[in-house]
Amino acid sequence: MNDDASQNPGTEEFLQISFNILNTFGNKLPVSLCIHDDEFERVIPLFDRGTRLSDKKQEQVNNYCRDGNLFISKEDYASLAGHISKNLGALLTEHFLDEAAAAEIFYEGVLEKVRAFYSNPIGETLDELGIVLAIFCEYVWVDPNRWTHFFNTLKREKDICYHVVNTLFVGTAIYLKLIYKPGEKMDLKPLALGLVLHDLGMTQLPTTITDKPAKLLYKERMRMQEHVDIAEKMLNRLEIRDEIIKSCVLDHHERMDGHGYPKGRRGDAIPLEARVCGISDAFCGMIAERSHRPGLNPILAAIILTESKAKYDSSLTTSLISFIIANNPDMKALLQDKAKMQQLRAIALQKAAQ
Ligand SMILES: [Fe+2]
Ligand SMILES: [Fe+2]
Repeated sequence: MNDDASQNPGTEEFLQISFNILNTFGNKLPVSLCIHDDEFERVIPLFDRGTRLSDKKQEQVNNYCRDGNLFISKEDYASLAGHISKNLGALLTEHFLDEAAAAEIFYEGVLEKVRAFYSNPIGETLDELGIVLAIFCEYVWVDPNRWTHFFNTLKREKDICYHVVNTLFVGTAIYLKLIYKPGEKMDLKPLALGLVLHDLGMTQLPTTITDKPAKLLYKERMRMQEHVDIAEKMLNRLEIRDEIIKSCVLDHHERMDGHGYPKGRRGDAIPLEARVCGISDAFCGMIAERSHRPGLNPILAAIILTESKAKYDSSLTTSLISFIIANNPDMKALLQDKAKMQQLRAIALQKAAQ
């Protein structure tokens, strides 16, 4: 609303509000609303953020919305995103938000429920997390191309909650890329829950180990590995019996060659969903910042996993690379740069052999 050019609601300065979004507002507005005044040909404020809507005001707002004449300024976009992330169900039928914005909003919405659950892993917080994940699964299933926007939402911070939401986004994308068949619907929710719960046991380890600002010593690494056994007990306590969820949590550190832990399972004895979880977990761990090293370039991380052929299923590493480049011209360009790729491959081979 700064200059005359921005006074046309058709420009990118304004976002039209649909009933779908309006219905989530309640009677206290989370954003300021405006309308287009035909007489003066400009957008004018209607109600400020925080306004309590009386029945009369609500009717007024509904009428403007019905006429397609209800907008918010893009300056208010962050507030809208924050609000919608708490009402993710609205995104399932929303057509005004682009998929990149929707991916960000899902990231925030899932993150909030993950934080609540990881800080207090009880039935109630699990149920709320389950609801958000059910909406997330429905959202990606409606249009499988939606996952192509997930890569740009990934966070680099070494925080367990970011880590598991990253793992959810990467794992869902890899899995869909591999198994999606148009018209064939399947329940993605067990996988989504498995991806999010995979490091549940970490919540019970001392922060002197989980947050240690240096590389872990051998003894500490052994202690860290206990997070899988701890998680098994927690799953039992939470009465989670779904085999897919359990395999993600219990087998995400198993490797194809049998050199993983805790059981040393190998090959097909590791269910597909657990292999998806394992590779997503490894990838997200590698791209995250650590106190003793910066986060790895995602293409480098993917090549290291590709070169670790004995450990990771090659159909999954292929799927991971296609996820990284799907909507990211920079990553695609890097993959096509022969000289740089040669350098990266040399580093990857070294790291894969470690
Ligand atoms: Fe883990
Ligand atoms: Fe993990």
